[in-house]
Amino acid sequence: MSEPVNPEIAEKLKQLETKFKNSGQDLGSYLDGLLHDRYLTYWDYIHLDTLLSLQIPRTHFPDEEIFITYHQITELYFKLIIHELKQIIDDKLQNAAFFTAKLDRVNRYFRVLINSFDVMIKGMDRDQFLKYRMSLLPASGFQSVQFRLIEIYCTPLVNLVNTKERDQFSEQDPLGEVFEHLYWKSGATDAETGEKTLTLKQFEYRYTPRMMRIAKQVQHSTIFHKYHELPEKEQNNVHLIEALRTFDTNVNINWLLMHMGAAYRYLNRDKGEVLATGGTNWKSFLPPSFQRIMFFPNLWSDEEKENWGQQWVTHQFNTKQ
Ligand code: HEM
Repeated sequence: MSEPVNPEIAEKLKQLETKFKNSGQDLGSYLDGLLHDRYLTYWDYIHLDTLLSLQIPRTHFPDEEIFITYHQITELYFKLIIHELKQIIDDKLQNAAFFTAKLDRVNRYFRVLINSFDVMIKGMDRDQFLKYRMSLLPASGFQSVQFRLIEIYCTPLVNLVNTKERDQFSEQDPLGEVFEHLYWKSGATDAETGEKTLTLKQFEYRYTPRMMRIAKQVQHSTIFHKYHELPEKEQNNVHLIEALRTFDTNVNINWLLMHMGAAYRYLNRDKGEVLATGGTNWKSFLPPSFQRIMFFPNLWSDEEKENWGQQWVTHQFNTKQ
C-alpha cells in the first residue's frame, strides 16, 4: 500500500496544477522534467568555467593577467551601475527614497572601484606594463562604451560637450550635432588638422549607433531630468541631494583622479611622457579640472564649479615644491 500524500504537498500540487492550467500547460509534463533535471551547481549557475576562460593575455608577461582582469572587474561594476541607473530612469513612483536608495548603491559600487585602483597602481610591474602595452595598440580604456553610457544615462549631452564649446550648445540643438562635440571626441582629435585617432575612429564605428540610440531614448529622461521632474518637496530632500553630489564627485573627480594616478605611475617620465595607447594628449585629457564634466551642474555653487577637481592641481603643485 502506498503512503498517503502529505496534505501540504497535496495542496502545493493543487496550486501548481492551477498555475499550469492557467497558461495552458500540463503539470504532468513539467513534473517529468523535474524528475530528470540535474541538481543546480554553483559553477553552472555563475558560469564559472566560462568566466575564468575570458582572461586571455596577448603576451607572456605574467602581470598582463592583472591588467585584463582588473579591467573586466571594472566593466562588471559598470554593468551593475547601469542596472541601477536604468531603474531610476524607468521609475514612475517619483519619490526621493527610491531615488536615493538606488544612488546609494551606485555610490557603493564606485567606492569599491575608487578604493581598489591600488590593486593595479601598486600591484602591477611597471617594466612589464611598458612592454606588453605595445602589443595592445591602439586599444585603450578610452573605448569603454559602458563608461560613455553611464555619462549618457546621467545628464543631457550638452553637459558632456568639451569645455571650450559647451556654452555654444543647448538642449534644443539636434542630438547628432551635440554628439560630435563631446569632450572625449575632442580629446582624441588633433586640434589643428581635425584628424581623429585610430582609437577614436574604431570606437565610433563600433558603438555610435548604440550610443545614439540610447541618447535619443533618454533625451528627456536622464538622471538629471528625473531629479528635476520630482515634486519640489522630494527635490529638496537633503539625502537625495547629498547622494547626487557624491555620485557626481565619485564619477567625475574621484574615479578620474585614481585612474590618473595609474596613468602617471605607468606613463610619466622625468623627461616627457610615454605615449598613451589611445593617442590622446593624456596629461591634458585626463584631469577632471580640465574637462570639468558635471552631471548635475545646478547642484554646485559657482565656487565649487570653479574649484572642480582642483585636488589634482594642488597635489601636482605640492609635489613639485
Ligand atoms: C595601468 C593602468 C592604466 C593606464 C596607464 C591607463 C591610461 C589611460 C590613458 C592614457 C587614457 C587616455 C586615452 C588614451 O590616450 O589612451 C585612458 C582613458 C581611459 N581609461 Fe585608462 N588606464 C589604465 C587603467 C584603466 C582601467 C583599469 C580602466 C577601467 C575600465 C580604464 C578606463 C579608462 C577610461 C574609461 C578612459 C576614458 C576616460 C575619460 O574619457 O575621461 N583605464 N586610460
